[in-house]
Amino acid sequence: MTVRGLGRVATLLVMLGAAASATMAMSSSASSGSSAHPAAGAVPSRGYDLFQLHCATCHGADGRGTHQGPSIVDAGAAAVDFQLSTGRMPLDAPTSAPVRKPPAFSKPDRDAITEYVASLGNGPPIPDVDTKHANVSNGQQLFSSNCAPCHSAAGSGGALGRGITAPSLMKATPVQVVEAMRTGPGPMPVFGPDTLTPAQANDIARYVEYLHDPTDAGGLSLGRIGPIPEGFVAWLVGLGALLLLCRWIGARE
Ligand code: HEC
Ligand code: HEC
Repeated sequence: MTVRGLGRVATLLVMLGAAASATMAMSSSASSGSSAHPAAGAVPSRGYDLFQLHCATCHGADGRGTHQGPSIVDAGAAAVDFQLSTGRMPLDAPTSAPVRKPPAFSKPDRDAITEYVASLGNGPPIPDVDTKHANVSNGQQLFSSNCAPCHSAAGSGGALGRGITAPSLMKATPVQVVEAMRTGPGPMPVFGPDTLTPAQANDIARYVEYLHDPTDAGGLSLGRIGPIPEGFVAWLVGLGALLLLCRWIGARE
């Protein structure tokens, strides 16, 4: 994209932001007092009501998206649970970056919204994650080749360029780790069950859990390889990240 192209995108985003605050102000005054009418085929429920109040301005009353947010009809329970439990959604404005924050809703409310959105289409369910029987060293290998290029070997995250940052994984729960893999939030690629089986996903989730506390008994020793090979590995991994990013940017344009 050219510099002028980027400038136009920025102007557009600013305009969208203004439009969003205006519509949000309108919809909040409209929703107080008037009763919500369920769309044809929709079952009125707490999830439906919360969705109309907090999500519909950007994702549309039917979840099919607006100019302010994508369609989430086929996002699936995994994506909704991930976005709500990591506090990414609801966004304050369509131009805000989705970042991890304390969740805006209680667990029962998140579950209600998730159930409602999942009922709109076909998407991945919330994964069953079992880290108790997982293989941490297998997880380490899978993590180095699939995740470390962006999230770094220690899972502490890193800048990918073009204003994109792969966040730290230090707060991600095992379920959130597998949800992220299955749904590919934002610029992250999707790792479906054909790429990483449920058992391999468990191993990766276990390894991320281990990274949260590497002194954890039953962990694996990273001390066996010295600083030079580690530096070399980091170099290779960095190269891998660049390649992945180039492919991703190429595919988007
Ligand atoms: C091409 C770079 C890239 C790769 C490869 C990648 N991720 Fe991500 N990941 C991201 C970005 C960017 C985000 C932030 C997305 C957002 O907030 O919308 C993210 C977000 C996450 C999150 C959410 C963290 C939190 O606590 O909020 C988890 C968990 C995660 N990734 C796990 C993984 C795992 C596990 C793998 C390997 C199987 C992986 N990622 C591979 C770029 C990547
Ligand atoms: C101010 C606008 C806005 C509001 C309000 C909002 N969203 Fe979003 N949502 C977005 C945008 C923009 C994205 C795309 C973000 C990105 O780049 O990843 C998104 C992404 C998502 C995704 C990921 C889609 C995918 O395919 O993985 C889900 C799921 C989602 N939103 C659910 C919700 C839910 C549920 C609510 C209400 C609790 C909500 N959003 C409120 C703007 C909004």
